[in-house]
Amino acid sequence: ADLNLQEIHDFMIAIARKAGERIVSATPTTEAAGSKMNSVDLVTETDKAVEKLISTSLREAYPTFSFMGEETYQPGDTLTAAPTFICDPIDGTTNFVHRHPYVAISLGLSVALVPTIGIVYNPFTQTLYSAIAGRGAYLNSTTKLPLTPPTPLETLNTCLVAVEWGSDRSGNDFAVKSQTFARLAAAREGGGGMVHGLRSLGSAALNLCAVASGGIDVYWEAGCWAWDVCAGWVILKEAGGIMVDANPGNWEPRIEERRYMAVRGGEGQKEIVEEFWGLVEGRFEVG
Ligand code: IPD
Repeated sequence: ADLNLQEIHDFMIAIARKAGERIVSATPTTEAAGSKMNSVDLVTETDKAVEKLISTSLREAYPTFSFMGEETYQPGDTLTAAPTFICDPIDGTTNFVHRHPYVAISLGLSVALVPTIGIVYNPFTQTLYSAIAGRGAYLNSTTKLPLTPPTPLETLNTCLVAVEWGSDRSGNDFAVKSQTFARLAAAREGGGGMVHGLRSLGSAALNLCAVASGGIDVYWEAGCWAWDVCAGWVILKEAGGIMVDANPGNWEPRIEERRYMAVRGGEGQKEIVEEFWGLVEGRFEVG
């Protein structure tokens, strides 16, 4: 049966707003819930409670759809072609714990493994990003993204670039990240300059929305998960942005590959991707 994407989208927004009220009224503490992988991979009671609230409402309204959420994911769970809600109840948990208000509910719907609806809501700033595949991306439901007509992407030197350290701070993948960050930031030999700036704001979903809006030119990360990117991916694409692999060479990343680079709309996207890939030192193993 054909899905009523508009109705599903509107329902997802209502749930995201409800979840947002729960998040802003919470007192974050990691003590009861503990951390997951190591001392910087945080999870709070609020993450769990908000995911429960979201999954309960979604299952009630759409009992035939699948659900994948950060807090209930088990190693080995895979995404299927069935319509699947993909949810990160709090993207930017570290920010939430520190009361830094760059935090979002990231709620996506994938259909046939394609990100199809995206809702990203920051309840602290009450900023809502939303998109349905093929129907444009919006800020607060009314302002079309990107916010201004995109200028051409000339060279990486003139870009504002978002990267993230993530929670895995060791091994090959950490070396690939940190060496590439240094290469992006440094004045390059023989002239050619350096990027205008590097930003690490701590929410993959909001980073994707920043690229969709046009305020960040490129976002590059490996190690994030489907729930970090599903919703933002739709918003990015609908705003004219593109998503490719963080490892050089793959123009068609899949949602579960855990390596992404987003480039904003505008002429010269392919050239920027190639220039960036040329700076990547080594290859990520995650994926
Ligand atoms: C994390 C944030 C962070 C990114 C990580 C994500 P979480 O999500 O988006 O910016 O670097 O890859 O896992 O743990 O706060 O939901």
